[in-house]
Formats: sequence, structure tokens, C-alpha cells
Amino acid sequence: MILHNFAVIEGCDGSGTTTALGEVKKRFAARRPGGGAPLLAGSEPTGGPVGLLIRRILRKEISMEKETLARLFAADRGEHLYAPGGVAEHCRRGGLAVSDRYTPSSLVYQGLECGRALPEELNRSFPQPELLVYLDVDPGTAMDRVGGRGDRELYETLEFQARVRDAYLELLPRLEKEGVRVLFLDGTRPREEVAEAVWEALIKMPALAEETRGSWENADTVGDEPKE
Ligand code: TYD
Repeated sequence: MILHNFAVIEGCDGSGTTTALGEVKKRFAARRPGGGAPLLAGSEPTGGPVGLLIRRILRKEISMEKETLARLFAADRGEHLYAPGGVAEHCRRGGLAVSDRYTPSSLVYQGLECGRALPEELNRSFPQPELLVYLDVDPGTAMDRVGGRGDRELYETLEFQARVRDAYLELLPRLEKEGVRVLFLDGTRPREEVAEAVWEALIKMPALAEETRGSWENADTVGDEPKE
């Protein structure tokens, strides 16, 4: 099932998904005359309790079985989607939701770690996004970017990121066949150009194209979480 008004940004570590979401938030705030549906901007792992636990595992502060981590990502996603005020409710009310990472990250990263069957099963029942923006960056550039951030996280090696990119390139055509609109962007282009291309795709989505109005609180962005 496709969840309309839901867009996700994907790519390997260091591909700029977080930066792209930040640019979307800026453009959304600048464009909106006020009174329409706010943007629900979120990230996975989320800032909720399960997401925070995942972050500790990614930072290698604690260690868990790969399969447990796959289950935690799915549990965190369930909260992101279905908790009150979450993505599913927001989109059904006609608002635009954009997530920095979603099910494709699990299919790619946990698919490589645990084999495909478990992440496929854990993520099967989640709706597909209407739009998937994929930021393509070669593993060398990606690792150069990540290198500047200090301590490396769990998946941040050149070898693993090369496999991540191959897995995305294999997954995207399959998602397209399932009805997801895929926007493939060269993530090494200047930040402004990438941001413009993402924005152009978002403004074609129903929430922005029709300027849905509802009983929304007076905010440009909701559900925003600090990302470490
Ligand atoms: P993120 O903070 O987005 O990393 P970056 O900012 O470098 O893109 O994502 C955290 C890490 O979690 C990243 O290595 C991808 C991984 N991840 C999974 O392995 N599975 C998932 O389902 C999700 C959402 C993220």
C-alpha cells in the first residue's frame, strides 16, 4: 500500500539525507503563507526511547545481536508511523510528512547484516512512501564526509558502504515496480542544487499541490527531533 503525502530520503552514510531534510524544512517555512498543513519532518532512528537505544548500539556503546537490531528498527518505525500525531495520521489528514530514512534503510542495511528474509518480514506491513529520494554518493566521498564527524559508527566503513550502495541500486527498481516514485539524485552535487531538486519533487505531492487546510496547530514544522 502507498501512503500518499509521505516522502522519504535515503542513501548511504554521508550521502546528505539529514542535510537535505534540513533544506526541505527551510523551504517549507519560507513558502508557506501560514494556516495550511504543517510539515511533519522526522528521522529514523527517531528521538523516541527505541530510537535512542538504537543510537547507543550504532555508537557501539552497547552491543546486541544483528537480528535484535533489525527488530528494534522496525519497532521504532512502528512508533514513528502509528503513534498519535505520527506519520500515518498526519498524511491521512492531508499533511506532508518527510522522513530521513525509512523501510529501504532496513531492507538495505539489515538485509546485508542478517540476510534478506528477516527485514523483509519485519517491514512488509508498513506502507510504502509515495516518493523516495535517493542521494547517490560514491563510497569514497561518503566516507570522507563521515570521517570529519569524529568517531565512526557501526556501519561506517568503506567496504560496508560500497555494499550499501550496491544494495540500494538493486532495491530501487523493485520499489518503482511496486508503485513508489523514485527520484535518483547525484548526492555529490552542491547542496543547493540537491535541495532544489528535492523541493521540486515535493511540491508536486498532493499536500502541497492542493494546499490542504485543516485544523492544524500554528507551526511550520512538527515532529522535529534533534539528530546527533
Ligand atoms: P543516520 O543517522 O541517518 O546516518 P547518517 O546521518 O550518516 O546518514 O542513520 C543512522 C544509521 O542507521 C545509518 O548507518 C543507517 C542505519 N539504519 C539502518 O541500518 N537501518 C534502518 O532501518 C535505519 C532507519 C537506519
